[in-house]
Amino acid sequence: MSHPTKSAEQFEDSILIGSDHGGFELKQKIIAYLNANGFSVQDVGTYFDESCDYPDFAKLVAGPISNGTHRRGILVCGTGLGISIAANKIKNVRAAVGYSEEATQMAREHNDAHIICFGERTMDHDTVLRCVKIFLETPFSNGERHVKRLQKIES
Ligand code: RB5
Repeated sequence: MSHPTKSAEQFEDSILIGSDHGGFELKQKIIAYLNANGFSVQDVGTYFDESCDYPDFAKLVAGPISNGTHRRGILVCGTGLGISIAANKIKNVRAAVGYSEEATQMAREHNDAHIICFGERTMDHDTVLRCVKIFLETPFSNGERHVKRLQKIES
């Protein structure tokens, strides 16, 4: 099991981001924020605001993380819920709903989350941008008790 402890700035691979129509607008804001702060971003869609199915985009972000070609992903839907449930079905992927700054920090420090999920309709968008920064800058604590719990999830 690998626990990346580098900050996102040191990643050579790009950050994957995806949303359904319910997260489309917030996703554009997150992409603009990431570009403005020098991150390499790969948008897997949706590229339109027409109705679509969030599991398709969860898979496009979680798949490359599961197979090891990417390390960090961001997913957005109306609530952050459906898309996180879908992402967590992909082997060895941990997706967390970053519903607050504290929760986002814990998602990295304690849960070593690969993917953070947000709700366009349920979260303040400025808070989301602060959560994105926290998600990308916070390393896993590597604490013994947390490693043990993650191993239990994997087994
Ligand atoms: C789409 O209307 C909405 O259901 C979706 O974006 C998400 O909130 C599901 O959990």
